[in-house]
Amino acid sequence: MKAIVLCAGRGTRLRPLTHTSAKHLIPVANKAVLTYSLEAIKRAGIDEIGLIVNPSNIEDFKREYGSGESLGLRIEYILQEEPKGLAHAVAISHDFLGEESFLMYLGDNLLEEELKGFVDEFLSNGSDASILLAPVENPSRFGIATLSKGRVTKVVEKPKKPESNLALIGVYLFTNKIFEGIENIKPSWRGELEITDAIEYLIEHGYNVTAHIVYGWWKDTGMPEDIIEANRRVLIGIKESFIGGSIDEKSKIEGTVIIGEGSQIVSSVIRGPVIIGKKSTIENCYVGPFTSIGDNVILNNCEVENSILLRDSHISDIMMRIDASLIGRNVRIRGTHSKPAALKVILGDYSQAEIHMISP
Ligand code: G1P
Repeated sequence: MKAIVLCAGRGTRLRPLTHTSAKHLIPVANKAVLTYSLEAIKRAGIDEIGLIVNPSNIEDFKREYGSGESLGLRIEYILQEEPKGLAHAVAISHDFLGEESFLMYLGDNLLEEELKGFVDEFLSNGSDASILLAPVENPSRFGIATLSKGRVTKVVEKPKKPESNLALIGVYLFTNKIFEGIENIKPSWRGELEITDAIEYLIEHGYNVTAHIVYGWWKDTGMPEDIIEANRRVLIGIKESFIGGSIDEKSKIEGTVIIGEGSQIVSSVIRGPVIIGKKSTIENCYVGPFTSIGDNVILNNCEVENSILLRDSHISDIMMRIDASLIGRNVRIRGTHSKPAALKVILGDYSQAEIHMISP
């Protein structure tokens, strides 16, 4: 079986990070979001992957994965020139997929449950399509399914009046019947060919569409707060500490902590779960739970928790604790005593900052 992984989304809600990298490559616990999914697909026994990309992010993926060899995969890149929808992405992958059944995975999803059970169930139950569903609190933001006696009786994309709270989470298994569905649908109100409409076509034409409900956590990592939450979830799952760098006797390490080779911890408290990459220096700092720090980061005189700091950034002399923050590559933040005592920032397009106000 082959898989297609859809990574052509522009990631506008993650700007400015997505000005310089595809959103699927933003690291969570120091590993690209997409790598978790590719590894999960591999564990499900699938090693031929078509990565659907767009003209502006294709090189990011090629740089990160090349032909897929380092992950034990064979990756082919399929270019979706324009954002014409998920069903359009499937249609342009027809040559790559041939007529065999396949897995489709939306590349910005993170899923706790293994895919293998879902794939095995589909291969043995003879259904024409199967979808992964999860209960959600805000059904109007998703494709929503209605079930009856183990079969899917209806799917609607972002319904105004949802009939259930079971959302399509972005993992699908299809036989080649899906191509018939895609040929028979029209673009939706948002101008896209919706895969949900193609699945609804199958249901309406008597095909057998089944579902598998996941109760473990899953996350669509489309927004900064989703990435920070995914980071927390992944860090909680780290079972063992690994200390590759050096820690001086004035420092204290508590809980599960991973420190990469060549990193130095000086006069600091690191309270896990925390991951620190290679060649980073943490001096006179508190690094609290749920923090991921990339390679070659310098932290001096500051406190940070529940945050992601990407590689090559320098942060020093900050009075307030940094919390729930997503800090990109090569960022500089420093406290000063110089006058005027003002906020002085150079923020890229679409940056966001929240400054704590002193009570009047
Ligand atoms: C897409 C699908 C939707 C699904 C969602 C999951 O929506 O169209 O059915 O529930 O992914 O993340 P989009 O993220 O394109 O709005």
